Amino acid sequence: EDTDKGAYPYYMLKEIDEQAVVARNIAAHYFDEEGQLQGIGCAITDKMKEADRLYIVAAGTSYHAGLVGKRYFEQWAKIPTEVHIASEFAYDQPMLSAKPFFIFLSQSGETADSREVLDNVKKQGFPALTLANVMNSTLTREADFALPVLAGPEIAVASTKAYTAQVLVQAILASALGNPGFDLKAELAKVAVEISAITDEKETFKKIAETALKDQKSAFYIGRGLDAAVALEAALKLKEISYVQTEGFAAGELKHGTISLIEDGTPVFALLTQKKTAGLLRGEVAQVAARGANTVVIASKSLTKDGDAFVLPEVEELLMPILAVIPAQLIAYYATLDRHLDVDRPRNLAKSVTVQ
Ligand code: G6P
Repeated sequence: EDTDKGAYPYYMLKEIDEQAVVARNIAAHYFDEEGQLQGIGCAITDKMKEADRLYIVAAGTSYHAGLVGKRYFEQWAKIPTEVHIASEFAYDQPMLSAKPFFIFLSQSGETADSREVLDNVKKQGFPALTLANVMNSTLTREADFALPVLAGPEIAVASTKAYTAQVLVQAILASALGNPGFDLKAELAKVAVEISAITDEKETFKKIAETALKDQKSAFYIGRGLDAAVALEAALKLKEISYVQTEGFAAGELKHGTISLIEDGTPVFALLTQKKTAGLLRGEVAQVAARGANTVVIASKSLTKDGDAFVLPEVEELLMPILAVIPAQLIAYYATLDRHLDVDRPRNLAKSVTVQ
């Protein structure tokens, strides 16, 4: 596979751009010509259907992908789902349900914290499935089942296409267990088209990064529901490579403490793709603006208002996290470039963390 940067200055930008192709590759792998699901054996779905609760275990960006995936398993498959940070679960295992099923999410398949949990879980005799980008890795070999995430080689330390791929594959897996209520294959084709529509707008995000984040030492991403989950990933992207201290927040929690950090010019990025809470989120944007924040709203088409910084194309609302994260990836990229830092190799970080 292609591990050459080609004409790209950094792998991260190349990998951001590859997300449309990744979405198409995933759809081609998991659906046949007639639109029927393929590639997920009955052994996996039968075991999952027997479970009374799913436990998603992961670290970093993969953990954030799990927070989105939870929604698909609960809403479509109707199985209660918990998402856990591997390094916590490994040493403080929560009380488990009677018939748990474990899903390990990992780009590398080698994260030591996740491996520790898999070891513990196996000793207890529980079934486990690994969704990994690197197949034939420790986590895929040692779990009972494994499915490929199919993002292709990801070289930049900051994960981008592996996140969107993990979200997509979780959606597909959940759709094998319960009906999403729409044609997922057709919608994935739309998602791929709209990813490109967003990555074509690089100049817009460059400008946002260079103005809103200029000389700023801290920033916020806020959202509600699925946008709150994306806000965590968006904040991680920005802070891990640009070193701008960024918090991702469930917008309703701001008023319970964090809003005191808002000063004149503090950048607050709001992700607004979920209809039910759009009005409330608009209120929160107004509240931080009234306290001096520089608000940058990224809203889906039907929810947008004058003055928003970017209008996201619209796909099924539950799939909007796949689109909403892309502006954040590009803003992080350009903010880092603007600071003359090495986008692909942020200080103190490793692509794969094989120590606990
Ligand atoms: C490292 C990487 C992150 C990644 C995390 C989990 O910290 O820098 O990008 O999200 O590990 O890795 P995994 O390979 O298990 O997804």
